[in-house]
Amino acid sequence: SHIPVIAIDGPTASGKGTVAQKVAQHLGFHYLDSGALYRLTALSVLRRNTPLDDEHALAKAAEHLHCHFNGAHIFLANEDVTNDIRAEEVGNMASKIAAIPTVRQALYGLQLSFRQPPGLVADGRDMGTVIFPHAGLKVFLTASVEARAQRRYKQLIDKGFSANMEDLSKDLTERDARDSNRSSAPLKAAEGAHLLDTSAMTADQAVEQVLSWYASAK
Ligand code: C5P
Repeated sequence: SHIPVIAIDGPTASGKGTVAQKVAQHLGFHYLDSGALYRLTALSVLRRNTPLDDEHALAKAAEHLHCHFNGAHIFLANEDVTNDIRAEEVGNMASKIAAIPTVRQALYGLQLSFRQPPGLVADGRDMGTVIFPHAGLKVFLTASVEARAQRRYKQLIDKGFSANMEDLSKDLTERDARDSNRSSAPLKAAEGAHLLDTSAMTADQAVEQVLSWYASAK
């Protein structure tokens, strides 16, 4: 297909969401927040108290995810869960269920369906490695644990959650380890990905860099 894709992967709170959204906005492209799909599945199973060892029920929840996106708002059935899915508890559950291959498989087609003209910017852990391996541009964003904990702290406080830097650093480190060490679609830079360490960068500087890579990749 000729619909261009920019794949942006990286660890938790590396800034990929902000950067990907701004790049999409700049190019007039669609945007896929693939982490939101895992978070929506996590929220739905947390609410139903589905046990973590019931893989069949977890995969079913992913397969029958009734979600929709409207601008910056994310809905589960008809409920606006934009803020609810950002809770740390939901992120941690998302990372646990994301290690299950049948859950990942159940979300595969939904992710592909976001590729619509004139183009897509997709962010996650496996956009460049598994979901869009032929993306015209692949970027792997990183940042130090300190920089990421600080960003996550600010995001949570801004959304009205309470947060603690020490707990956040521990959470991030645990989640990175789980995401990087799982056998199914582990977090890693895709072949040919451009690496970008955003620890000392503003979001706009990172956006400029991605746009300039995209311009020269075309
Ligand atoms: O990016 P975000 O923190 O919202 O993602 C939540 C969790 O979903 C991640 O920790 C990761 O385990 C999982 N995820 C994934 N593959 C993706 C996107 C997210 O496994 N493409």
